[in-house]
Amino acid sequence: MRKILEFSKGWKFTKDVTDGAAVGAKWDEVDLPHTWNNVDGQDGGNDYYRGTCMYAKKFARPEITPGQRVIIEFLGAALSAKVSFNNKELTNHEDGFSTFRVDVTDYLEDENVIMVAVDNSATDRIYPQKADFTFYGGIYRDVNMIIVEENHFEIIKDGTTGIKITPVVNLESKSAEIKCEAWTVGGDKVAFTVGDLTAEADVNNGYASCNIHMENIHLWDGINDPYLYDVQAKLIVGSEATDEVSTRIGLRKYEFDTERGFILNGREYPLRGVSRHQDRAGVGNAITQAMHDEDMEIIKEIGANTIRLAHYQHAQYFYDLCDENGMIVWAEIPFITQFMPNGYDNTILQMRELITQCYHHPSIICWGLSNEITASGSITDELYANHKALNDLCHEMDETRVTTMAHAFMLEPEDKLIEMADLGSYNLYYGWYLGELEENDEFFDDYHKNFPNRIIGFSEYGADANPAFQSPNPEKGDYTETYQCVYHEHILKCINERPFLWATHVWNMFDFAADGRDEGGKNGQNQKGLVTMDRKLKKDAFYLYKANWNKTDKFVHLCGSRYKDRVEAETEVKVYSNLDKVTLFLDGNEVATTETDMGTAVFKINISGNHVVEARGNDGNTGYKDIIEIHKVDEANPAYGLLKKEEVVNWFDKDTIDPNYYSINDTLGALKENPQSAAIVNNLMAKLVASRGDVAEATVGNKTLEKMLNKMTLVALFKQAGDAVPGDMIKQLNDTLQKIKK
Ligand code: GCU
Repeated sequence: MRKILEFSKGWKFTKDVTDGAAVGAKWDEVDLPHTWNNVDGQDGGNDYYRGTCMYAKKFARPEITPGQRVIIEFLGAALSAKVSFNNKELTNHEDGFSTFRVDVTDYLEDENVIMVAVDNSATDRIYPQKADFTFYGGIYRDVNMIIVEENHFEIIKDGTTGIKITPVVNLESKSAEIKCEAWTVGGDKVAFTVGDLTAEADVNNGYASCNIHMENIHLWDGINDPYLYDVQAKLIVGSEATDEVSTRIGLRKYEFDTERGFILNGREYPLRGVSRHQDRAGVGNAITQAMHDEDMEIIKEIGANTIRLAHYQHAQYFYDLCDENGMIVWAEIPFITQFMPNGYDNTILQMRELITQCYHHPSIICWGLSNEITASGSITDELYANHKALNDLCHEMDETRVTTMAHAFMLEPEDKLIEMADLGSYNLYYGWYLGELEENDEFFDDYHKNFPNRIIGFSEYGADANPAFQSPNPEKGDYTETYQCVYHEHILKCINERPFLWATHVWNMFDFAADGRDEGGKNGQNQKGLVTMDRKLKKDAFYLYKANWNKTDKFVHLCGSRYKDRVEAETEVKVYSNLDKVTLFLDGNEVATTETDMGTAVFKINISGNHVVEARGNDGNTGYKDIIEIHKVDEANPAYGLLKKEEVVNWFDKDTIDPNYYSINDTLGALKENPQSAAIVNNLMAKLVASRGDVAEATVGNKTLEKMLNKMTLVALFKQAGDAVPGDMIKQLNDTLQKIKK
């Protein structure tokens, strides 16, 4: 029978690599999982080390009997891994997120050296190459040695488990037809066991298949009842079993409706959840099982029932956790942001491995073909063809699941790309990167009206928040924790009012590393998380979702605990709770009792010194409360925000502008109506697009974006453009416009 041995300990690592060969003598002792970007990939500057590094491990010939095979299994090495064994190159695996295996049997010696040249440098054919997250390099998941008998289940191709179990559920008759297939090297028969039902099939040319009919099935019913059936397959030679593999399946039936959204096991089951990247502060993507467990506990606490595991294949261990906890999963490959003609084969490889390796997870309901692939660069026939091929491949390999895509906001809904997958979803950032919050509502209402036969979802939305930043007047782009709450309150309402959205995923559950970012008072991080990258701090907005999605763990949360120093004499106090009403106390005196609306209660209190604010609630049995301190101060606490932005804005306070003439307070649309001012703003836009590189280039001539930009005033646009438009240039522009009479 097969043996799986731990093989992650006692490796050597060096960056001293030239032309794929380790040259220096300087090798560090490392245990896997490991990445060489855990520090420089999280500190900003977009300068983390991208290149080839070498891992090596020496080991003695394992004790095997004739016919047995020795396989080295890598669970994740990014972005590509060239494996040599005793100086013989055996494989070059170009998928940084999936399992791959190498058979070293024929090259074994008494003393053996395995060398792995791992590379995360830029290429024009391996995805991802352009995206808003750090492409960590390293063997960042565990490695195992697997010893199998001569007759064994297929183990090399696409990192397969060797078996494929396909259940088809009939809800009316509460039964399931379960197709069992196996690929083998040798062997006479395969005995499949699903739950307590067994069936045998003869092996012909390395393939065996049969069906099992199951009555009175126990459904896998999402977070309510994630029931799993154990599956074993034994490979039999004569009367003896020589290999065994096991997995789990869940029996569920789901469908999509243009009005009612997602339907699980015959009932509406709105998918409301979060997205997740696989990294963490200080360790990068070399995260442990305990860290996976903690992430799942946090996601359960917020009350999500779905997770988008972005933008690549995650660890099998985490998909298992999703199965066990009833989370519905969107799984995808990193076909992202910019289409690469030479990347076609790589997308196919990554999708083939994703489906082969994740096929049995009941939590996974769809395969994501790409993310914002039109965001940068032009839309070509090759891009369409690549998507068609991926979509066909998914349906060929998996008759039971659907395909989807996450589209960039500027992709025209009429674009044929949208109908190249079974479902569509949009990533929208109105009210953060651009536009106003209401435009999210308008977008989906227009879309639903114009394309009533399409299933649409909300695959990303979010706002960056540095928990140190607070404001009495929160506004988009200020990176305050306060604004993140305002933002999510709006979007939650937008979603609640649109049950046709098949799934919605907050971008993001956790802050994550994006070394190209230096903004919002932090370096190297995307701060759209509801929880910080070290998992130590749950931002206030976390509790908004918990109040709306988690109906079991009663709680009361006072927002603003990090907004101690307040200049305003009358200040707003916000409470999130999943109780019906909460009472606020100021220095022990009752202020008011308020019903919660969408898990929210808002109070105004007058402050003059140091105060203790308490919120209490009761579910009839138990009392719940939270307490914060507030200090009335004369000077705004400079630590609470981005100073630079305020300066620019203040310069143009309203009363110095003559309203009879054009100014930066006018909208782009209004300025375009006058030929003189139109010439000025068109010239400005061309400069802005040029300063934003190819992402902005992809927006040129884009009707959706133009419609949205025309509603924006130049002031709002400048805030968006940040330092691309220096203060003096704004003054000059305004002076010019103030000479053009309306
Ligand atoms: C995009 C993208 C994400 C990115 C996010 C953001 O939509 O898909 O990968 O992190 O925007 O800008 O925060």
